Amino acid sequence: MIGRHNQSEQAEERMDGTAPVSDAVTRVAQAPSGPDPALVYRAREVTKVYGSGPAEVRALAGIDLDLFEGELVVLLGPSGSGKTTLLNNLGGLDLPTAGALEYRGADLTAADEQQLTRFRRECVGFIFQFYNLIPSLTARENVALITEIATDPMPPEAALEMVNLGARLDHFPAQLSGGEQQRVAIARAIAKRPAVLLCDEPTGALDVRTGIVVLEAIARVNRELGTLTVIITHNAVMADMADRVIFLSDGRVQRIRRNASRAPVNSLKW
Ligand SMILES: Nc1ncnc2c1ncn2[C@@H]1O[C@H](COP(=O)(O)OP(=O)(O)O)[C@@H](O)[C@H]1O
Ligand SMILES: [Mg+2]
Repeated sequence: MIGRHNQSEQAEERMDGTAPVSDAVTRVAQAPSGPDPALVYRAREVTKVYGSGPAEVRALAGIDLDLFEGELVVLLGPSGSGKTTLLNNLGGLDLPTAGALEYRGADLTAADEQQLTRFRRECVGFIFQFYNLIPSLTARENVALITEIATDPMPPEAALEMVNLGARLDHFPAQLSGGEQQRVAIARAIAKRPAVLLCDEPTGALDVRTGIVVLEAIARVNRELGTLTVIITHNAVMADMADRVIFLSDGRVQRIRRNASRAPVNSLKW
């Protein structure tokens, strides 16, 4: 197990009752634990401040949020409301300035670089607006690059099949449309079977029709793998595909709406 502490040091250090992240990473593969087994993230009073003095920006101004296993959550808010900052903190790409951020009962803010790297590698799949595929590798090879270093990956072919690219395995990115490239990126993110899938404006670079196909792929992954999925958007149309919609503005959760049911992606009115 990665980690600089032995058992007794942990007991001494973690007076607040949370466990170090390395423990949570280990536990993910096993049964969930804690008072609510389905609770994945718990954020309390999370703030993130960039810069200092007159240049100071309070990107997150006290976020309280619980996220649960298997949910599909849409994070909706105007540009500059803190969506990307929040997602980056959930994914361990960045850490809060203050507040508590727990992943399955483990305090992310207490993790060192090595533990965070392992957390990202084992627990989190990221999808961004731009696909970041390697141009000289085929779809299959782009996905295999990740599965080769994962603990319990699915075969690259199965991941690509899940996003309906079973017939494009040996195409290079330049031979694929934008929507197909984004679906390769989704296959790459989910092939390691992450517990969490974080998507930052995944359809931002796509036209509506292509965007729908990409969102359908994400919804299918969430349904079939049970991956807690968070999709950032500034497009209110996408709200109906979610179990819950979290409205962000000025770095705060303004309100949370639970949808009675999820609308199929192809029924969303653009
Ligand atoms: N690395 C950074 N350095 C300084 N300010 C930042 C940085 N990242 C984001 N910000 C600022 O934080 C606020 C929230 O940004 P962001 O989380 O990207 O919002 P959104 O994704 O909702 O558009 C904005 O005012 C933005 O300019
Ligand atoms: Mg953003």
